[in-house]
Amino acid sequence: MKYLVTGGAGFIGGNFIHYMVNKYPEDMIVNLDKLTYAGNLETCKPVEGKPNYKFIKGDIADRPFIMDLFEKEKFDVVINFAAESHVDRSIEDPEIFVKTNVMGTTTLMDACVKYGIKRYHQVSTDEVYGDLPLDRPDLFFTEETPLHTSSPYSSAKASADLFVLAYHRTYGLPVTISRCSNNYGPYQFPEKLIPLMISRALADEPLPVYGDGANVRDWLHVYDHCVAIDLIVHDGREGEVYNVGGHNERNNLQVVKTILKTLDKPESLIHFVADRKGHDRRYAIDPKKLETELGWKPKYNFDTGMQQTIQWHLDHKEWWQHILSGEYQQYYEKMYTDKGRV
Ligand code: NAD
Ligand code: TYD
Repeated sequence: MKYLVTGGAGFIGGNFIHYMVNKYPEDMIVNLDKLTYAGNLETCKPVEGKPNYKFIKGDIADRPFIMDLFEKEKFDVVINFAAESHVDRSIEDPEIFVKTNVMGTTTLMDACVKYGIKRYHQVSTDEVYGDLPLDRPDLFFTEETPLHTSSPYSSAKASADLFVLAYHRTYGLPVTISRCSNNYGPYQFPEKLIPLMISRALADEPLPVYGDGANVRDWLHVYDHCVAIDLIVHDGREGEVYNVGGHNERNNLQVVKTILKTLDKPESLIHFVADRKGHDRRYAIDPKKLETELGWKPKYNFDTGMQQTIQWHLDHKEWWQHILSGEYQQYYEKMYTDKGRV
């Protein structure tokens, strides 16, 4: 089997590349990534040089390039992680989210239809469902929950999902979609909550908590997400959506306090700052379909996963310090210094 994995120099795609290259030594895993600010080839170092792995730099929205690539490479399966993924950036500049997340997806799928790909898998997000109220802990997102997005990011992801389902019905493309809750773990770009707070706490810098810090996310270790995608791609039913989440709801303040406690840093580092525009209050996944149909069970709970993740950051300081000293630094300064959020 020959797999095309897009966005494999990013956080989840990078973890998935490690997982697949090691689990399927007889199969070929091709990593296609544009290397935007979020793409980091250092993430792929552990698999570089393996005979069943290859990296190609390119843009999923570049139609002539994609058509050429599919003509040459003869892929069997395509798994699309490539996306602009940060909500705050989508609020600043929505257009690239339409280009990559929507048009990149349709470009890839056009190639899949033309070259008779056996399975196209779209990595989506629970953010397509919008948010749940904080005072209704009995409510969860199921695959039947209507799409009701809040941010330019989630709107672009939801649009892509609709195109994926349309390509299944209209052209018969064999598709699956996974909608996962917030991920954390090794190799996450330090603009997202958990790695941002770990790296800032280690430097004794203020930790910017948006609004009242009561917003709830349903945290899933990236390893468990990778296992779920592997199962869905191989055993999931065509045309189906699968929610992925492990019932690990925490509010942002709880997450930040866990990090501070583990690193033995004072809570006085917490700084409440202006809220994110349109900030979703609560995400919570019902993963029953994935558990009952495909037998998925997460390996980590929030406590074990957080300890592993914080330890990983202590053991891999050069990985994230290298990012902080590069291009990310300008964005970091713009978002956290010029705007006076901290
Ligand atoms: P990320 O930002 O860490 O990585 C995205 C990768 O895609 C980067 O390597 C980037 O260079 C690449 N990329 C961006 N535009 C591209 C283009 N036009 N062509 C080719 N490559 C391009 O993102 P992530 O957190 O790893 O998320 C991966 C996927 O999972 C996304 O589709 C995201 O919507 C989805 N998702 C993320 C989470 C989460 O908590 N991070 C949760 C659910 C779903
Ligand atoms: P984030 O990691 O950006 O993921 P998402 O917005 O996709 O859920 O943010 C997770 C939560 O943490 C979200 O409620 C916003 C909040 N947050 C902060 O309070 N401060 C920060 O500096 C960041 C980046 C996020």
